[in-house]
Amino acid sequence: MADTVTRSGTTSPGLLASLDPLLREWLPRQRWFAGKGRPVTGFSQVAATELLPAGARIGLYHLLLRAHQPQSPGDCYQLLIGVREALPPRLAPALIGHVTSGPLAGRTVYDALYDTRPAELLLEALRTGARIGALRCERDPEQRIRSGLVPRLMTAEQSNSSLVYGDTFILKLLRRVVPGVNPDLELPLALAREHCPRVPAPTAWMHADVDGDAYVVGVLQPFVQGAADGWELALRELAKGEDFAAEARALGRATAEVHRTLARALPTATLGRAQIQPLVDGMVVRLDAAAQAVPALRPYAPALRTAFTALADLAAEGHTWTAQRVHGDLHLGQCLRAPTGEWSLIDFEGEPARPLAERRMPQPAVRDVAGMLRSFDYAARSADPPAPGWAHTCRAAYCSGYAEVSGADPRTDPVLLRALETDKAVYEVVYEARHRPDWLPVPLSAIHRLAAADLP
Ligand SMILES: Nc1ncnc2c1ncn2[C@@H]1O[C@H](COP(=O)(O)OP(=O)(O)O)[C@@H](O)[C@H]1O
Ligand SMILES: [Mg+2]
Repeated sequence: MADTVTRSGTTSPGLLASLDPLLREWLPRQRWFAGKGRPVTGFSQVAATELLPAGARIGLYHLLLRAHQPQSPGDCYQLLIGVREALPPRLAPALIGHVTSGPLAGRTVYDALYDTRPAELLLEALRTGARIGALRCERDPEQRIRSGLVPRLMTAEQSNSSLVYGDTFILKLLRRVVPGVNPDLELPLALAREHCPRVPAPTAWMHADVDGDAYVVGVLQPFVQGAADGWELALRELAKGEDFAAEARALGRATAEVHRTLARALPTATLGRAQIQPLVDGMVVRLDAAAQAVPALRPYAPALRTAFTALADLAAEGHTWTAQRVHGDLHLGQCLRAPTGEWSLIDFEGEPARPLAERRMPQPAVRDVAGMLRSFDYAARSADPPAPGWAHTCRAAYCSGYAEVSGADPRTDPVLLRALETDKAVYEVVYEARHRPDWLPVPLSAIHRLAAADLP
């Protein structure tokens, strides 16, 4: 690929070479870096656009870089690199490093999302539907974007990075990007077309075009002011010893509204034996790998396997299920409650670790339900003291709320629900064993329950 900086037409062949040693250190330390634990051995440029000339007081590059790592083809990351003589103290957390060679020698480079001017420039590009170098902005003509909104970078732990503009809009910049239709834009757009009020409607979005491939790199949407996320709220109520059933029921209703609209807006499918068997096979493979990795799971493996084979057996008897587009990574942290009490669902990216094609496949809607049920359990077990009864009440209320809107209570399909919840809990066991061993008892308590087939 040409090592070109596209806006000004100038080429800067040494740009990547001069950033390389700094990025090797900096990138693996970022919360959103997916390749933790393996070194970055180099970069290749997928796209580069000069947004502000490097010679100016503030320079700005938009980069898509593939980070090479041993045993992996390398993920592609979106970076906005600011260039200054020196950083003012307020930008200290943004520092990437001081460049020693190449075209930027002697200058300081930093994560430009922390800086006002670059953040303003992104909003301006979205507002005006700009095309700059590889970047192409589009917007919903129905929504107005005021100019001059003051940006701030969200500091929450995230898998991507978000800028909030004047408490009016939030711009999510995707960090790990892949070419193709991104469900994080696709699904909210589809829901907005159907006037579904449970999801903030995309206001504008940005693609990077590279050799005929389009990468979604940013989505701007209305900021839900004064919102609290479901996880925060649940923990707060737990700490007060309050029940959360009314909220759980409202969340069930919101989930069903979103599902109903997605089923109307996008393709659905029928899953019979031929489709269920590979799903079940996948679940069994993941269980076997998990049991291999986490000894504490082993005693439960045979019983858990029956959760999966029971689903295959039903399919073999001729039972079928409807599949549709789903959220794909639904949990309390992906739900926002506005001060009006209305819930919104956000973050339709799905599980970023899974391939895009898989994330966009129609699936049983109960998969999202299983995710939320696990989330209530997580909240309850992270309380001090743990409150399993609280989770039980929330789970029941959530399913009831879901049934009120959809007409189908997820608990009436216990085999599917148990299989999906088990698959999720197995994933959690592996995750916690690897990243947060202190949390391992949380999914293990669910494993204990699921192995005994004690539902819901
Ligand atoms: N429309 C919105 N209004 C208010 N806050 C939002 C909105 N969208 C996202 N957020 C906040 O930003 C956080 C991260 O957003 P999310 O889309 O989940 O990104 P990530 O992919 O990084 O998890 C959310 O947990 C929420 O706190
Ligand atoms: Mg999220």
